[in-house]
Amino acid sequence: MRIYKAKDYVDMSRKAANIVSAQVIMKPNCVLGLATGSTPIGLYKQLVEWYNKGDLDFSEVMTVNLDEYKGLSRDNDQSYYYFMHQNLFDHVNIPAENTHLPNGMEPDSQKECQEYTNLIQSLGGVDLQLLGIGHNGHIGFNEPGEAFDKQVHCVNLTQSTIEANKRFFASADDVPKQAYTMGIKTIMQAKKILIVASGEDKAEIVRDAFFGPITPKVPASVLQLHNDVTLVADEAALSKLP
Ligand code: F6R
Repeated sequence: MRIYKAKDYVDMSRKAANIVSAQVIMKPNCVLGLATGSTPIGLYKQLVEWYNKGDLDFSEVMTVNLDEYKGLSRDNDQSYYYFMHQNLFDHVNIPAENTHLPNGMEPDSQKECQEYTNLIQSLGGVDLQLLGIGHNGHIGFNEPGEAFDKQVHCVNLTQSTIEANKRFFASADDVPKQAYTMGIKTIMQAKKILIVASGEDKAEIVRDAFFGPITPKVPASVLQLHNDVTLVADEAALSKLP
């Protein structure tokens, strides 16, 4: 694994955006696996800036997102569809039909998971998968204990995740209870992986995931088995490395 140390969040965003843009420049019709969450927001902002300067062209890029809440419509401002449009898709020249997320409004989980797995395969797999890391080591919605051999699947959100998300919704009842996510196996099939981490609150999990034992108790630790992983993290997130 390569580790690039950044000074701070802005520097991390720029370094990680450089890796994504190198991918787009070298393979204009590449398949990017994308993530939501707070960490990649600066990276997306940087890509938009470079696009506006004329340095990047997304006209042939294809994207597949890691995950989506089940039961949220696209126009719900908490959906990942909404997030991706707000932070990236609406600001660059990527054709709408090239962007993909699991369909949160499909009630038949088995159907949606199979279709999304088939879609990723039909695109020829993911060239570069972007990931963030949760405080407990989750990647996508793969929480601790999840088997390493899963493809796209439907997960029941833990009570603590539902509690944590409550503030974004009118009431706890409105918080989605399930989500569709690429599984660990899907993520591991990406040709290259770029994982971003920022802040002191991520320091312990960054240490445990990349320098600790490989175990389903820390889902991100599986990335130690992938042969092309780049971690871009700021000093604070790298402050507890052995
Ligand atoms: C996002 C996702 C999540 C986040 C993780 C870290 O699509 O799948 O696994 O990457 O929860 O989130 P932040 O970046 O907000 O700390």
